Amino acid sequence: MIEQLFKQISPEEIADKFNIFTLIGKDLFAITVGNHHHYNSMVGSGGGFGLLFKKATLWCNLRSDRYTIELIEKKQVYTLSYFPDEYKPQMLFLGSKSGRDSNKMKEVELTTIETPSGNVSFKEARLIIECKLVQITIPELKDFYSLEARRWLEDTYKSPNDYRKYVFGEITHVWIRNNI
Ligand SMILES: Cc1cc2nc3c(=O)[nH]c(=O)nc-3n(C[C@H](O)[C@H](O)[C@H](O)COP(=O)(O)O)c2cc1C
Repeated sequence: MIEQLFKQISPEEIADKFNIFTLIGKDLFAITVGNHHHYNSMVGSGGGFGLLFKKATLWCNLRSDRYTIELIEKKQVYTLSYFPDEYKPQMLFLGSKSGRDSNKMKEVELTTIETPSGNVSFKEARLIIECKLVQITIPELKDFYSLEARRWLEDTYKSPNDYRKYVFGEITHVWIRNNI
């Protein structure tokens, strides 16, 4: 039961308890989609917290060929999970190969936990954010003005599937590990 290990806080309380620029800029997170029969995680970094349509929202940048984004498009719900530093090897492992053609979810040394909404995360997490997909945007060069951004984007369109999709999710539930 998730309630034995975690307590729920509101999305607004995330910023009271964590530095959001650390969460999104320095820390790694596992993005997990699916149910306990079939799920997949990848590691991500970057993105942001904010308000979209007056709702607390989290966005991240996912390369278009990630298996995780394919599943997010299908299921439209997912979790972002943050872990204590000692789980960095597991994070890097989730970022080392695709779940499309590997058994990485069976191999990774983490223990799944299901939220009351049926989303999957891990017992070892320190923070779990459940999201409902709102929007996936494919960035277009014509919409970018700074030279730096244009150059970055041009590079991502040079080879097929290297471009990123911007994935916006409404934050529906937030769980923090007891005694944090
Ligand atoms: C430290 C680290 C950060 C990463 N951040 C991102 C990211 O923000 N967006 C992305 O698309 N891929 C990112 N990746 C790469 C994916 O995690 C990796 O390609 C993963 O194997 C994709 O898995 P999937 O195909 O099962 O979804 C990162 C990898 C590492 C090691």
